[in-house]
Amino acid sequence: MAKDKKLVVEDLTVSFRTNQGLVRAVRGISFELEEGETLAIVGESGSGKSVSSKAIMGILEGNAIIDKGKIIYEDEDLTTISEENYHKIRGNKIGMIFQDPLSSLNPIMKIGKQITEALIINGNHLKNRYKELIHQVKMDYENSKIKKQNLIKDFKSNKSRLKEEGKQEEVQQFKEQFQKDILEINQKIKDTKEAFKKEQISAKKKVADDWKQEKERVAKEIQAIKEKMASADRETRKTLKEEVATLKENLRRYKKVTKKQAKERAIKVMEEVGIPQPERRLKQYPFQFSGGMRQRIVIAIALTLNPDVLICDEPTTALDVTIQAQILELINKIKTERSLSVIFITHDLGVVANMADRVAVMYAGKIVEIGKAEEIFYNPKHPYTWALLSSMPDLDSKERLAFIPGTPPNMLFPPKGDAFADRSKYAMKIDFEKEPPFFKVSDTHYAATWLLHKDAPKVEMPEIIKKRIASMAKAPKEVNE
Ligand SMILES: Nc1ncnc2c1ncn2[C@@H]1O[C@H](COP(=O)(O)OP(=O)(O)O)[C@@H](O)[C@H]1O
Ligand SMILES: [Mg+2]
Repeated sequence: MAKDKKLVVEDLTVSFRTNQGLVRAVRGISFELEEGETLAIVGESGSGKSVSSKAIMGILEGNAIIDKGKIIYEDEDLTTISEENYHKIRGNKIGMIFQDPLSSLNPIMKIGKQITEALIINGNHLKNRYKELIHQVKMDYENSKIKKQNLIKDFKSNKSRLKEEGKQEEVQQFKEQFQKDILEINQKIKDTKEAFKKEQISAKKKVADDWKQEKERVAKEIQAIKEKMASADRETRKTLKEEVATLKENLRRYKKVTKKQAKERAIKVMEEVGIPQPERRLKQYPFQFSGGMRQRIVIAIALTLNPDVLICDEPTTALDVTIQAQILELINKIKTERSLSVIFITHDLGVVANMADRVAVMYAGKIVEIGKAEEIFYNPKHPYTWALLSSMPDLDSKERLAFIPGTPPNMLFPPKGDAFADRSKYAMKIDFEKEPPFFKVSDTHYAATWLLHKDAPKVEMPEIIKKRIASMAKAPKEVNE
């Protein structure tokens, strides 16, 4: 597996045993999550999004069967590892945020305890200390790289705008400024990278020293006790033995987090996710928080264990629009600061327009189209993606153009061929008979629709979507500072 792939899902197929028969919830999906990217998985309710993410987390219900496929994380196939090993990955490596914050919080446990509990059970003192030591320099380095990307993006869009407006002279000026800026930022990247590397080395050493000292201290104590033991009577020997056992146990725990440390970390994470007055709020119960604040707590809990992959399953669906935007912004922020790789699940393409690097469109348990966000938004190929785009709220009027006609298929009896054929006015005879393979649109863009077959009649996407795409393209892009 290449280094830059965080997670690889291969032909994942999941069914559920029910009284009515087998529900074919996920029917052979494959995708890769690249390091540092946000991959959106978009599709109507029932398309298999949550089942896919639960499969990755290893938390499928008891009646689920993984029929086939692999989920590869750090060279291990998660579909085959023991529950004990899964326990080490869940939370620590792959974190998850669910749609309904209320159902993922315990209503009768104080928030503070809910945040610290996971830490105390799973936290590794030395690992956390290391991460804390390098956090700042790492962020400086990541931020300088992002600044450079934004600078280039900005430059490109401004250059073409100025060219279009025929302002040649300004283009030249602009170019000179840009070249200066780039030199500067390159230097910054170099400096911060160096600082980061240095800090990594020194942090590793500090943590190792820490551990060594602690071990030596305990070894000395044990030695002293053993010396006493030689001349002690039977009863005292027994107590001394117990003392040694406690010392060893404490040493083992030293790698783990103490209650006090857990509380301090909880407060830090609460600050990070924008919960005001964390010391006071630690002592409150979930019902004392608003919906948006509860979702922030759920995010805080997911972050305490320092995962490097975060799966967000409709994290904003239960929230109203303004709060939704704030939570999206927060997820984007922590993603950048912690260089997380994110799988973002939603039924609403509109939600991910500004945050996804790539988009996978799911229908009836399959991925029907996958590509870079621009490719999915500006050059969609599958009729189902067209339908999703047309049901997306309009940027200006906030109105939805159309609802997708019909209903998703019953997954007890998944349709033959292209599952969307029933609801698509572009369906051809073959769509009802034979499943379309993925056709390549570009190196990064694939769609499973017979419309892309070389012998298919040439079908253009609906006029209404073309208009929408044109208006999206004109809308000012949000530029990060
Ligand atoms: N525990 C279960 N038992 C039986 N069927 C299930 C179970 N969980 C999910 N399903 C079915 O699997 C399909 C996919 O569900 P899900 O992944 O939750 O959809 P969504 O894309 O809305 O998240 C649906 O048909 C759903 O009814
Ligand atoms: Mg779901």
